[in-house]
Amino acid sequence: MAKIAREKFKTYGNVFDQFTLRNLFKLSSQGHFDELESPISIGKEANIFTAKREDDSRVIVKIYRLENCDFNRMYDYLKYDVRYTGLKSKRRDIIFAWAQREFRNLLKARQAGARVPLPITRLYNILVLEYLGDNGLIPAPAPKLKDKIPKDLQAFLDTVIATIQKMYRQGIVHGDLSEFNILNFNETPVIIDFSQGTTIESGNAHELLMRDIHNISRFFKKHGIATDETELIQWVMNEPTTKTTTTDKQRSRSNHNSGQSKIKGDQRINL
Ligand SMILES: Nc1ncnc2c1ncn2[C@@H]1O[C@H](COP(=O)(O)OP(=O)(O)OP(=O)(O)O)[C@@H](O)[C@H]1O
Ligand SMILES: [Mg+2]
Repeated sequence: MAKIAREKFKTYGNVFDQFTLRNLFKLSSQGHFDELESPISIGKEANIFTAKREDDSRVIVKIYRLENCDFNRMYDYLKYDVRYTGLKSKRRDIIFAWAQREFRNLLKARQAGARVPLPITRLYNILVLEYLGDNGLIPAPAPKLKDKIPKDLQAFLDTVIATIQKMYRQGIVHGDLSEFNILNFNETPVIIDFSQGTTIESGNAHELLMRDIHNISRFFKKHGIATDETELIQWVMNEPTTKTTTTDKQRSRSNHNSGQSKIKGDQRINL
């Protein structure tokens, strides 16, 4: 059994069902973490905790609730995913598939070279992921993009779009991209929350890609950077990687001319 006292986990008894509790023990005894800290987020479907490891480093433990989650909504998304076509509409199977899909999507995104949390392990409805943030006495997770506006908005936007393209080329679409699911980790975008991610062959992939691009465009527009959504989508889907954004060209021109790389906030991405 894990180093952690069973008593400690009992205090979570009113938060988790017995099945989840047992599997938290199991993960703990496998050395993935010692104890859960306070939840950092209670989402629509999942509770997210930081957890301390023996060496005082931290991981994220994302637990999909077996009760109080909208498994019908999950099923509606999963049934389009070609990886889950045979899935029966049974509550638990859907929730486990949902968590598994998030894990698989994260692996794919990493293969694509996207900056996303390292998926460490998954057991049924529980995911253990790399923690992004400060690791002091009290955890300070990296802020969401909505809460920390990047200093160089244009560079941040360029990286997000390039990341969407990398993932697309690896065969996946995030499906729930917005300022809520991008962390501003020391001025670098890290994309999280891949549960809605799907393969590009799936029936709703294009619709989800358009929505992702729309959400990103809307956010950056609000902060002074206009984009052309249609061109962005085309660029993500078709154009060779060597094609640079107008902004990139402008940046290199400006670098060449003045040695400066600062881009004005109102410049338009024109891909
Ligand atoms: N790897 C991570 N490192 C640091 N903080 C994280 C990490 N993953 C998630 N978080 C924090 O937890 C919050 C919720 O996580 P996430 O977006 O994955 O779940 P969610 O939106 O609650 O999921 P769902 O929509 O499925 O209920 C994030 O907004 C972020 O603040
Ligand atoms: Mg989220």
